[in-house]
Amino acid sequence: MTLPAFNAYLNGRFAPLDSLTVSVMDRGFLFGDGVYEMIPVYNRHVFRLDAHLDRLTANLAAIGITDPHERHEWHKIINRLVDEEIFPDQQIYLQVTRGPAWPRNHAFPAEVSPTVLLFADELPAPAREQVENGVSAITIPDLRWQRCNIKAISLLANVLAKQAAVEAGVTEAVLIRDGQLMEGAASNIFIVKDGVLRAPPPSTQMLTGITYDVVIELAQSHGIAVELAPVSEAALRGADEVWLTSSTKEVLAITRLDDAPIGSGLPGSLYRRIFQYYQDFKTGVMRAGKDFA
Ligand code: PDD
Repeated sequence: MTLPAFNAYLNGRFAPLDSLTVSVMDRGFLFGDGVYEMIPVYNRHVFRLDAHLDRLTANLAAIGITDPHERHEWHKIINRLVDEEIFPDQQIYLQVTRGPAWPRNHAFPAEVSPTVLLFADELPAPAREQVENGVSAITIPDLRWQRCNIKAISLLANVLAKQAAVEAGVTEAVLIRDGQLMEGAASNIFIVKDGVLRAPPPSTQMLTGITYDVVIELAQSHGIAVELAPVSEAALRGADEVWLTSSTKEVLAITRLDDAPIGSGLPGSLYRRIFQYYQDFKTGVMRAGKDFA
């Protein structure tokens, strides 16, 4: 495997990604003991940095890791990474683990200092073909734990779900728990029924995406009715439209689910509106360095 020499940061040091190493005793490596963020950057403007850092702070607190940086220090690290990267549109990966410790023991070590890793990569826009035709997905039982609101690096159930999607030749796996829609393996899921945009409300059963928030804001500000309430598997299958959202995929229509068409089998009229609102928001707000319209 050859790593790109993209800009990265590890524990106080900026260096090319391919030059960095961490201890084999790092608890991120041994236990998946850490949390992460994926932050989109448009035209070198970091989108909703504080919302991402609020989520990071909450996640660190939830797993008992002391935040290794003050807010202004996070800003400094991230802004330097962004400024030095060659791509104007980027995705910043940020990970904090509990750090390296000996001997191996599940419980927290008495003395440990977190490992902080960040790297930047290019953020490509979703493929035109996916926007125009929509994507396919499968449903899969949600085998994850009970605290899916924590953006934990221990992603084994998500990894297996996504792999099942890849092996089925589709883009996403939609997770179902107790007959209810949760989210995608790496995205949030919305449905449209009779002109109403519906999605599960934030809970411990899903990761509330920053893009989820944006899509709800855009819908509401354009007069589209939004209902945040549990969505049953039957409602998902019978929806007029299904969408997935994430920082890297923006908003895509799911037009086939488990080999059956959703609605007409093409991206619906509400999808085409929200896609346009999202593109306008990207141009007028995100690329302009603003967080809100
Ligand atoms: N993941 N739910 C899950 C399980 C996710 O992994 C993601 C995104 C989202 C959407 O969150 P946001 O809108 O803030 O990107 C929801 C990122 C992209 C990842 O793991 O790479």
